Amino acid sequence: MLLVLNGPNLNRLGLREPGVYGSQTLEDLERQCETWGAELGQSVTCRQSNYEGQLVEWVQDAEEHGFTGIVINPGALTHYSYALRDAIAGQRVPVVEVHISNVDAREEFRHQSVTAAVCRGKISGLGFLGYRLGMEALVEG
Ligand code: DQA
Repeated sequence: MLLVLNGPNLNRLGLREPGVYGSQTLEDLERQCETWGAELGQSVTCRQSNYEGQLVEWVQDAEEHGFTGIVINPGALTHYSYALRDAIAGQRVPVVEVHISNVDAREEFRHQSVTAAVCRGKISGLGFLGYRLGMEALVEG
């Protein structure tokens, strides 16, 4: 049972900088994740929030709610949220960090991730496919 979390501004997918993030919406992404999850024999719950504290709480509660892995795109929180980093570090469910765009090919401030070091791995620049690869990594162990 996998949890897919999207952070701030990812509710604007499809409208937001389509040259960077593509023309598909968050709903398209979430439906795809559910389909990919089914192919992997997993039920998938998708959630999005623009609020740091909400994401922290979803991460904190993931194990208690029965999730066995988390794919997270923390959006800009990636680059500065020690609270989210501590939430990931402070629980036992494995987490894969995903970015739709290639953060290393963009502005300098996007090169740093404060969350990646406490994740199992990080996938960047492969569009929505990154979420599928993240789910696969969690399922394959
Ligand atoms: C992002 C990259 C971040 O730098 C940015 O703030 C986002 C989206 C991505 O998916 O490429 O909101 O995480």
